[in-house]
Amino acid sequence: MNAEQAKIEIERLSDLLNRHNYLYYVESNPEISDYEFDMLLLKLQELEKEFPQFASENSPTKRVGGDITKKFETIVHRFPMLSLSNSYSEEEITDWENRIKKTIDEDIEFVCELKYDGVAIGIQYKNGELVRAVTRGDGEKGEDITNNVRTIRSIPLKLKGDFPADFEIRGEIFMPQKQFQKLNAEREEIGETLFANPRNTASGTLKLQDSKIVADRGLDSYLYGLYGVNHNLNGHFEAVSKAGNWGFKVPLEKNRFIERTNSIEGIMDFIHFWDKERENLPFEIDGIVIKVNSYNQQQKLGFTAKSPRWAIAFKFKANRVETKLLEVTYQVGRTGAITPVANLEPILLGGTTVKRASLHNADQIEKLDLHQGDFVFVEKGGEIIPKIVGVNDEKREQASQKIEFIENCPECQTKLIRRDGEAQHYCPNENYCPPQAKGRIEHFISRKALNIDGLGSETIELLYSKELIKNVSDLYVLNFDQLINLERMAEKSANNLLKSIENSKLIPFERVLFGLGIRYVGETVAKKLARQFKNIDEIIKASYEELIETDEIGEKIAISVQQFFLDESNLEIIKKLKDFGLKFKIEEKEKISAKLEGKIVVVSGTFETFSRDELKELIEQNGGKNGSSVSGKTDYLIAGANMGPAKLKAANALGIKILSEDEFIKLISS
Ligand code: IVH
Repeated sequence: MNAEQAKIEIERLSDLLNRHNYLYYVESNPEISDYEFDMLLLKLQELEKEFPQFASENSPTKRVGGDITKKFETIVHRFPMLSLSNSYSEEEITDWENRIKKTIDEDIEFVCELKYDGVAIGIQYKNGELVRAVTRGDGEKGEDITNNVRTIRSIPLKLKGDFPADFEIRGEIFMPQKQFQKLNAEREEIGETLFANPRNTASGTLKLQDSKIVADRGLDSYLYGLYGVNHNLNGHFEAVSKAGNWGFKVPLEKNRFIERTNSIEGIMDFIHFWDKERENLPFEIDGIVIKVNSYNQQQKLGFTAKSPRWAIAFKFKANRVETKLLEVTYQVGRTGAITPVANLEPILLGGTTVKRASLHNADQIEKLDLHQGDFVFVEKGGEIIPKIVGVNDEKREQASQKIEFIENCPECQTKLIRRDGEAQHYCPNENYCPPQAKGRIEHFISRKALNIDGLGSETIELLYSKELIKNVSDLYVLNFDQLINLERMAEKSANNLLKSIENSKLIPFERVLFGLGIRYVGETVAKKLARQFKNIDEIIKASYEELIETDEIGEKIAISVQQFFLDESNLEIIKKLKDFGLKFKIEEKEKISAKLEGKIVVVSGTFETFSRDELKELIEQNGGKNGSSVSGKTDYLIAGANMGPAKLKAANALGIKILSEDEFIKLISS
């Protein structure tokens, strides 16, 4: 293919991918399979690699991320980004309508919308291309987060139809509930502290430097406001529909995300509908926004210092009640994290009786300045667990004692620790603190680890309390008589369990490693470690430097791995498991050659012939090691399309040999 043909093909593929992206993420009506989409994308990536002069800033390949933002530049908004005045009662909405009627002496049409609970964004388009996305900031100036916004699939990179030459569109970026729950489940698995709610998570995600992580987080958007459009548009509703025609994800009438009405009753009906229905939405809203539709009327109404007079937000009542704090107790999680819990005088809140509320961590208790016997305000917000949002100071007894965070673990009395930069206290007694010990056994037997069937948490509890198992190695000495004597354990279940324990000896090393429950070592990291070091003894011996040389292993994981193996009791458990016959080394794939013996190779970008993982395997089969980042120790960098510019820069600066995929294949087959 010559350059001219490539240019045409890149344009064709880009248009095609943009269309299918739109059908999938905006219309929710895909025409091709994910596989077909990926194949088209791959084709485009390859072409862009070969003809980088035609790879544009708004290529669909940017959706997968890769660009790093070292510093988010401050940008002054072309049109100030105001906020809305809030109201909390229907009366306030009626007052607002009456005020408006004093200025506008004609029929008024209102547009009702959802108030998305996310992060406000202003996106500028020039000649139909996304050029810049800026956060609200202080309303006058915000931060340029364009690289990250380009990864959000529902935000078009290129527009269709009769769009204006230069304009800005505003809206909200948010994290759907499902994505939020998935992300927290992943974090829980590796012992990371959990994110509090979808809004903060969306906001934190948009400020990440690595757009690849942003791309994986599944952010979504709704856009609702046009600025700088000198079209013959009469009003807001028309503007929103136009934006929809240009390819934006906008609220539609068909699912009542937007509605026009001429009456206060119509507004109230919309409010009542969503107050109930909001719990069935796949994302969070915190209210309703009501706007005067006509641009002409909007202009007559104008602005106050902070917000337009032609719009108002109705905020849903967070269900809030006052009750007495009886006691603060502390829970110890599977990973040793300590969570303070407020035990409350039972009270009805949003249809359920609330007796307990999470206090999250020591800082939260400090922030609330919580005292014994305080009367506290409890709210049920987006989170399922109710939270304490304040204290009624007037009802505080003078002599009441301030709540001091405990110093020792409530389960095993070990002194608690709090690591630098972390909000959570931990009990460091990982192997002998009962909830942690039981939690580790539960993790060890879980499906993705040793997959031991027939051992629920109740049975573990029973075995633990009878001192039949104290840690995972004790599972392998359980016998039929011990099991059959347990309550509710039938002969068949006992035999099945024993068989399942026996079968677990065949589980590959990387899953055994994952099952050990080393903090921050999830499934993927366990695989990488197993691949790199081949057996447990090499991992135990590995220096910090060797660990961080490994693909995807950073400082935090390396320290955690080293700490785990410094603990004698962990080494003892591993020794026992080894003696019972569990797998502690990888089953070696046959070596192809020793051409890369002693060489550290870093792979970056996407490739034509092999996937990245296949290349990594080839490196190992030819005697080499995979490195995670380019450093003085790196021997080769295999550079693919869309590779991180930082890696390329580092490799050039360090004089590291850069190979294309073809050159690499030649090297190992020579
Ligand atoms: S219109 C002049 N419409 O609420 C203000 N805002 O305090 C124009 N928001 O910063 C905003 N959903 O982030 C508007 N349908 C909606 C909205 C909405 C959420 C957010 C937005 C804004 C804040 C207002």
